[in-house]
Amino acid sequence: MSTVYIHWPFCLSKCHYCDFVSIPCTGNEDFAEWGKLYKNVLLSYMDGFGLRDVSITSIYFGGGTPSLVPQWFIDNLLNTVQKHCKLVEDVEITLEANPRTIDSGKARDLRDIGVNRLSIGVQSIIDEDLQMLGRIHSANDAISCVLDMTEVFSNVSIDMIYNRPHQTVASWQEELRTVLQLPVNHVSLYELIIEDGTKLKHLIDSNMLPSISDSSEFFENTITIAEECGFELYEVSNFAKMNDYSQRPDGAIFRTHPGGNPNYGKHNLSYWRYEDYYGIGPGSHSRISFNKKPEKLMSEKIAIAQIEDVQAWREWALTPRFDVETLSKDDEFKERTIMGLRAMCGICPATFDKVTKIKYGLQNKLAKLEENSYIMANADGVVLTYAGILRLNLIVRYLTEEFSI
Ligand SMILES: C[S@@+](CC[C@H](N)C(=O)[O-])C[C@H]1O[C@@H](n2cnc3c(N)ncnc32)[C@H](O)[C@@H]1O
Ligand code: SF4
Repeated sequence: MSTVYIHWPFCLSKCHYCDFVSIPCTGNEDFAEWGKLYKNVLLSYMDGFGLRDVSITSIYFGGGTPSLVPQWFIDNLLNTVQKHCKLVEDVEITLEANPRTIDSGKARDLRDIGVNRLSIGVQSIIDEDLQMLGRIHSANDAISCVLDMTEVFSNVSIDMIYNRPHQTVASWQEELRTVLQLPVNHVSLYELIIEDGTKLKHLIDSNMLPSISDSSEFFENTITIAEECGFELYEVSNFAKMNDYSQRPDGAIFRTHPGGNPNYGKHNLSYWRYEDYYGIGPGSHSRISFNKKPEKLMSEKIAIAQIEDVQAWREWALTPRFDVETLSKDDEFKERTIMGLRAMCGICPATFDKVTKIKYGLQNKLAKLEENSYIMANADGVVLTYAGILRLNLIVRYLTEEFSI
């Protein structure tokens, strides 16, 4: 199972917190030329890295702001994938949208060409905070966009950011409760990260904004309120509307039935399961297995990172040649652990079984974590408990480095 990620790097303007590969657009982008470049890279993956032969479960248009590109651009790329690759019947096709860049007409056009999931960047529904974050829309714009989009798509997710400067836990509780009344089936609730080089970092460093506090109280409240409002946590930042399958196993915050709830985002689930992904666009990453023999300890993976600089990428994509790195066993184990522990499906037992045999001390570390009720290790794999999820970063370091807790 594999996924395709297509990164469109332009936005209307740069948000103050964002360090994604995204730059303000000029409004004069030559979409026909860009379309050819994306197609070049796509075809190179098909010819050189087996994309033709794998089953594709999800295609994700991320950014940047892919809702800025015309519908025919998306259509051309989807047609190319459809023509040459094997898409599963219920393939998920997601597009990220900024509330100021999509309306009902455009949404219907996108739906008609096969997009079946929309992820809308709301971030906050408080106007002053939206301004502080450098967003180009108001709270009302965001809410009406969500309502309009849910008329067109049955699969709509929204992004929110918490632990913002000046924000109190009480005000987040109220804001979150309001947001979770919207008729969406998925929310991504991110803790604000103050990234180096961003305007927000500069404002905080120069005391024009207060620095942010410890996020654990925010996180605990986020989980509780989401559950009360009918959303289950299935990854540290991702919550799916509960359905009949959603029941909480004793002691574990995460569900132990991967894929059990159709509202889980398939694209992200595939990252957490460490399945292969093919990234296209400036700054995009890929992980592709090159040895899938069952007797191998782990599938051996190659990593490809594409150039971040947008203009340099444009040159490169005329005749793409990939910088391929083979991941070491240690790197692969580290990535599997980080991705697996974030998600409710945990880390598959087969991987851990095999790795514990060669990784000195890992078995003892797992036993210690279990003793402290930070993980549950059973036939379904290694899964974090509620206490564990609050210490995710420490636990990952403990398992993957020379580090004690
Ligand atoms: C690449 S953005 C795509 C969404 C779309 N471009 C938009 O902003 O409307 C994905 C999400 O990552 C989150 N994000 C980006 N930078 C972040 C940061 N520094 N801290 C926390 N969340 C962040 C935001 O919630 C954002 O919606
Ligand atoms: S719109 Fe999204 S990708 Fe663009 S700058 Fe803002 S957060 Fe970053």
